[in-house]
Amino acid sequence: MQQKEDNLKSIISHAKEYGFVFPSSEIYDGLAATYDYGQLGAELKNNIKAYWWKSMVQMHENIVGLDSAIFMHPTTWKASGHVDAFNDPLIDNKDSKKRYRADVLIEEAIEKIRQKIDKEVAKGLKRFEDAFNEAEFRATNPNVLRNVEKITEIENRMRETLGNNDLDGVRNLIIDLEIVCPVSGTKNWTEVRQFNLMFSTELGSVAGDAATIYLRPETAQGIFVNFLNVQKTSRLKIPFGIAQIGKAFRNEIVARQFIFRMREFEQMEMQFFVRPGEEMKWYDYWKSERIKWHKALGIPETSYRFHDHIKLAHYANAACDIEFDFPMGFKELEGIHSRTDYDLKQHEEHSGKKLQYFDPEINENYVPYVIETSIGVDRMFLAVLSSSLKEEQLENDTRVVLSLPAALAPYKVAVMPLTKKDGLPEKAREILNVLKFDFNCVYDEKDSAGKRYRRQDAIGTPYCVMVDHQTLEDNTVTIRDRDTMEQERVAIEDLAGIFTDRCSMKTLLM
Ligand code: GAP
Repeated sequence: MQQKEDNLKSIISHAKEYGFVFPSSEIYDGLAATYDYGQLGAELKNNIKAYWWKSMVQMHENIVGLDSAIFMHPTTWKASGHVDAFNDPLIDNKDSKKRYRADVLIEEAIEKIRQKIDKEVAKGLKRFEDAFNEAEFRATNPNVLRNVEKITEIENRMRETLGNNDLDGVRNLIIDLEIVCPVSGTKNWTEVRQFNLMFSTELGSVAGDAATIYLRPETAQGIFVNFLNVQKTSRLKIPFGIAQIGKAFRNEIVARQFIFRMREFEQMEMQFFVRPGEEMKWYDYWKSERIKWHKALGIPETSYRFHDHIKLAHYANAACDIEFDFPMGFKELEGIHSRTDYDLKQHEEHSGKKLQYFDPEINENYVPYVIETSIGVDRMFLAVLSSSLKEEQLENDTRVVLSLPAALAPYKVAVMPLTKKDGLPEKAREILNVLKFDFNCVYDEKDSAGKRYRRQDAIGTPYCVMVDHQTLEDNTVTIRDRDTMEQERVAIEDLAGIFTDRCSMKTLLM
């Protein structure tokens, strides 16, 4: 645990030192759970968004994009259920005065039991080696079975109490599980209370004339209210999707863990409209498509796992998360939800407008069902950053390297003259001026070659192009690879082709 916390600390300090992420309004000592993306962070974030947009919108004939307003008519949020039900159950420890999400405390207790199971399985593997049959071990080992039963029991109680808004029941579960506050170490808990997560503000300047409006807590509702606008103007046929990327705001009471949980964050959401009754087929389809998108990045597959929701949101009939092994352990990175026809029906009811689709294949009007995929840009940023940052032991040295997937790296290429004289800087700039049309490049001539390579390693630049005296004679340069540190000599005219092959989004999307 300490190791993980130290990892998070080094990620935060690396992100700040190299211009990826700064605390917001830092000169005023910052604002809790709000962050600014610096010069390299903005590039990485844009690349993550481009990867998602390319794969979800531009690579699908039946998915189109949208950019709806953050402010929406206040009735939107009444209809969607957010005014009445977008709450977190919170509990305080009376000794440390720290506040926690009650459901998260319980989920963490479950995770600890799960880790006990994994340890038991690891012991079995060590004992039986090649003869080890994991499935049989899990199905028969008494310690594993006892812990699985414990988890099922806790999950059932959690589902029942949270589902019925039985807040005393949630507190009793915390007491029965003997959960202690990580700060004070005591079990001195307050009651559990519900807190609404939406930020509100006033529209209109005259007192009494003002209407309360909300900063959107999800981008999805902008898609639902535009469902017919888009369908009619695009003439898309079901099944089809509408996707958008945009800011969302939540008054997270318990906001720690860097950019994992922020009050202002960005979502990439896609609502896929399907024929009623076909939602489970599409739910499975999107689960498999989305995990493929993640795995294409080359981050170890063991960093991902699916987690089915124990307590379904008010709009869902099935839901799961893609969890990622963040520095704080496995946590939600992306949600995939079968939202039924809940949202469209609610908007029909509250607006008095029909939000139906005429399906020519079956000659019927209906309110479509919806499968949603929803991922936080900032969480994806943290997932990519944390899995890429490494300190490597070399023969006589160590180096810090950010092994970002090349297609997401802020700079693809650093162009460097070996020395600042003999016409090498001019030649290097000539090369950069051609490459910059297709790749984000940086020019670097300060310090020794070794120092410059280290600097580019630390910000994740996958390739350095070194211009030396031989370049002036034969128009060749060396390319130095960030991960292998190997160098190859190539013709300048081949550079663009080489970098396209190695750095373009195509490498991920094929
Ligand atoms: N429209 C569905 C929806 O908003 P969600 O599970 O509440 O579902 C979707 O949020 C995704 O948004 C999460 O998987 C997470 O990646 C991101 N997210 C949610 N709250 C966040 C926060 N406070 N800070 C950063 N990202 C957040």
